[in-house]
Amino acid sequence: MSSGARSPGDAFDSGTQDSGGVPALLDVSKPHSARVYDYYLGGKDNYEIDRATGERAAKSWPAVRTAVRENRAFLGRAVRFLVQEAGIRQFLDIGTGLPSGNNVHQIAQSLEPTSRVVYVDNDPIVLVHANALLTSRPEGKTSYIDADLRDPRGILDDPAVSGTLDFDEPIALMLVAILHFLTDDDDPRHIVSTLLEALPAGSYFTASHVTPEHDPDGVRGLESTYRAGGIPAQARDSATFTELAFAGLDVVDPGVTLVSEWRPDPGHSRPPAGQVNWYGGVARI
Ligand SMILES: C[S@@+](CC[C@H](N)C(=O)[O-])C[C@H]1O[C@@H](n2cnc3c(N)ncnc32)[C@H](O)[C@@H]1O
Repeated sequence: MSSGARSPGDAFDSGTQDSGGVPALLDVSKPHSARVYDYYLGGKDNYEIDRATGERAAKSWPAVRTAVRENRAFLGRAVRFLVQEAGIRQFLDIGTGLPSGNNVHQIAQSLEPTSRVVYVDNDPIVLVHANALLTSRPEGKTSYIDADLRDPRGILDDPAVSGTLDFDEPIALMLVAILHFLTDDDDPRHIVSTLLEALPAGSYFTASHVTPEHDPDGVRGLESTYRAGGIPAQARDSATFTELAFAGLDVVDPGVTLVSEWRPDPGHSRPPAGQVNWYGGVARI
């Protein structure tokens, strides 16, 4: 269920810290995907359990940090494409992750200051830091919803969505590095369809997903480490991902590719597939 009532600023105050300075609602006894991802990106918003899980997973997939950086770079290039070539001015970014220096609104608003972004994540650590996502330029707007992708209707019905996005104009749905946290039992195709059906004509959809096909042992090893820590994880091969995310959509060139191969910046050296293990694409709805 969407819990949009919890908002950054009032969710964690100085009175809700434990003796180690950890906000009380954060569970640091088990790893969280947002914090492990932050660790791989070199961030500081992670805990011992996240670092230990990240290191264990990296024993199976030694180039996972390279892969995470390639995924993050794909996200940036996709936003640039959406603003500059597709004319998109509105984003619904679900599975935002911990704020970094290049969040969707910062990239989009550097190109078009009127861009509007709704961020959605279900992790308390992202909520703690969500104020960094609300630094919109005055010409645009950003908002944050503490909600779960497994309740797409709850996200769409959240007042922050209608208060930030105009459903008479195209919107880009971003599900970047989140679908592999849904298992088949979650019926991810139904979730994706519910979101896509709500979007107006001319909208776009960007997604990326970890794949086992280039290094099955390495990726399955990371998957089992995540699952052992209580993080639901399911890598899918590129054909299954393409069907799950993009069935019936008009995928833009170069199609669904390794994230590193999607409209790469000139001069950027691209790692081999067995290091990247991550597919992505952008489609017009
Ligand atoms: C690997 S990070 C990706 C961050 C960013 N999209 C990127 O690609 O750089 C995945 C994010 O999805 C969030 N997430 C995972 N499952 C979720 C769910 N069911 N609902 C909402 N957020 C979820 C995690 O908390 C985490 O912040």
